[in-house]
Amino acid sequence: MATVDQEQPKAHAPLHVAIVMDGNGRWAKRRGLPRSLGHRAGVESLKRTVAAAPDLNVRWLTVFGFSTENWSRPAAEVSELMALPKRYFESDLARLERDGVRVRVLGRREGLSADLVKMLDEAERRTAHNDKFFLQIAFNYGGQADIVEAARKFAAEVAAGRASPDDLNEAVFASHLATGAAPAPDLVIRPSGEQRLSNFLLWESAYSEFVFQDVLWPDYGAEHLGAAIDEFYKRERRYGGAVADDVLATG
Ligand code: FPP
Repeated sequence: MATVDQEQPKAHAPLHVAIVMDGNGRWAKRRGLPRSLGHRAGVESLKRTVAAAPDLNVRWLTVFGFSTENWSRPAAEVSELMALPKRYFESDLARLERDGVRVRVLGRREGLSADLVKMLDEAERRTAHNDKFFLQIAFNYGGQADIVEAARKFAAEVAAGRASPDDLNEAVFASHLATGAAPAPDLVIRPSGEQRLSNFLLWESAYSEFVFQDVLWPDYGAEHLGAAIDEFYKRERRYGGAVADDVLATG
């Protein structure tokens, strides 16, 4: 029975979308290009996606730029990946600042060059006053490492006498993660045909909807984000509870 349509909450836009930007290497290989050019093309896709997101009523976008596991790639590729934030911010930071975008970089600063850390800090500092749109770039980030780090921070508070083990609950724990007070992602997208989370936002994606798309990241754009969001609207989010109709039917 479906007689209560007007009373059911309207599907809301995914406030927070997270994307595993995957497929740069394959995109390059198919064109006979070095992988580095696939990554550079991926920066252009990021620009297109950031530009498209607000029109689709998205307010938070979190992208996976470099994982703690990516250090195992050949040194030349690692150094190309390390150069991507500079490439992005040199061309786009002024625009992000002007357009009201607040940038946050999630992940460990240790292991990154002093120049890169300076640039990431500058991007955060110059946009710290913005609140129209929130762009989180996970860089040298791993979900498991972040959970361990949160546990360590809370344990240190207990050891210092500032907290008791009984104070710990899901909300307190989440506030110690790199994402801090950010809303959890409503929608996690992975293009390129792979269907894995790859250590991205492990805690935060507990109730996210997942959409896997068959496009390689360098080809990604507004139409793909729109299609993923259309798919999101078809999903019924239950958060472990029952659907409104079933509750009514069973009393
Ligand atoms: C995975 O594709 C992608 C990456 C490891 C890098 C993603 C980064 C960008 C798209 C640019 C990010 C921009 C900033 C500002 C950080 P892959 O190389 O694993 O592709 P493959 O699976 O086809 O080999």
